Order: sequence, then structure tokens, then C-alpha cells
Amino acid sequence: MIGVFMKEYYEQTKGRSTRPLLMEFLKYIPSDVSNYTAYDLGCGVGNDTNFMSENGYRVKAVDISADAFVYMNKKFGKLEHVEQIVSSLEDLTLEPCNLVNASLVLPFVKSSDFDVVLERIAVAIKSKGFFVGNFFGPKDDWKNKFVVKSVDEVKSYVKSFDILYIKETEVDAPSAGGPVKHWHIIDIICQKK
Ligand SMILES: C[S@@+](CC[C@H](N)C(=O)[O-])C[C@H]1O[C@@H](n2cnc3c(N)ncnc32)[C@H](O)[C@@H]1O
Repeated sequence: MIGVFMKEYYEQTKGRSTRPLLMEFLKYIPSDVSNYTAYDLGCGVGNDTNFMSENGYRVKAVDISADAFVYMNKKFGKLEHVEQIVSSLEDLTLEPCNLVNASLVLPFVKSSDFDVVLERIAVAIKSKGFFVGNFFGPKDDWKNKFVVKSVDEVKSYVKSFDILYIKETEVDAPSAGGPVKHWHIIDIICQKK
């Protein structure tokens, strides 16, 4: 997922807006999030980072690719209360936080590290904090390349959370700049107990 391919991805996605799943999260955002910390994991060009920042969170935007931040800075300039961190999720130490957004990044975590990364995320989110993110399901065309999880497996990662929204989608559509593929996506929004 890194290098030339990611630059192409950023070119394709730099004109996009906030992901619909994060927009869905608007329903649940607490009224005052000043001093609340959020992570945008695998932030890419920062469309979700910008949304979280605009909604009052102090955001730690994390991406394995330094190019992501070149695109973010070009698109948004200096974002208010946003820290940029170049790191893989596998190497990231998460500090206690109130929100983790992980949009289309978890499937790209090394399968051998997947459970540890998910556990670190669950532990870092404070009580009443939120997780917003998605997983590839077992019918996704990329099932042999990246990590896929069933709905039951997804639920098992968020046992310490109340699930507020969960949606499984299967659709044939192009990947960014790529050919049509079968997407099997599990979207989830949940709140730590
Ligand atoms: C498909 S893009 C999604 C970008 C953005 N979140 C969005 O929804 O448009 C995946 C992003 O995650 C980053 N990424 C991939 N594997 C990663 C990893 N193991 N750790 C951290 N970032 C990773 C890529 O560099 C890329 O920016």
C-alpha cells in the first residue's frame, strides 16, 4: 500500500470529502469535545482529519506514508490542533483518547499484528469514547491479499463497546483509479462502555 501506488491513490482521493461513515458519526458527537483527543488512523490526504478538526477534536493524524501529509498540507494548509505522525499502525503507541477513526486502513495491517493493533486501539479509547471504522469482509475480492473479518469476528474486537451502528455492504465498484472489484465492507460505530 505504500510508495508509488499510494501517490496515485492520493491523486484520486484528494478531491473527496469526509467519508459517509464519519458523517454518520455526527449523530453521536458529544456537544463539547474541546480538549478531546482523536486519532485518524491511515488518514491519507486528511479528508476525515479535517472534519474531526472542524468539529472540535484535537487530532493525531497517522499514516505510514509521509506523502499523505504532503497532500494534506497542500489541500488544507495548516489544520487547527492537528498533529501529523508518520508511523505504521503496527508500530504506533496510542495514548488515551476519546475517538479513533480508522477508515479503510485496518485491512492493510499485517495479519500477524492485527489482533495486537485492535487490542491497543480498544484499550486506548477512554470510557464513553468512540470507535468509527471498517473492515473487509470474507467475500471481498482482496481477501487473499489483505485482512478480512466476518461480522462475528468484528463484534469480538469490540466486546468492551456498545455497538451503535453496524452495516455490511457488498457492491461491485472500482477501487480508486483501479478496475471494478467486489467490495465487502463492514462499517461500525461503537462506544466504549
Ligand atoms: C485506502 S487509504 C484510506 C485513506 C483515508 N482513511 C480514506 O478513508 O480515504 C489507506 C491509508 O492507510 C495508510 N496505511 C496503509 N497501511 C498502513 C499501516 N499499516 N499503518 C498506517 N497506515 C497505513 C496508507 O498509506 C493510506 O494513506
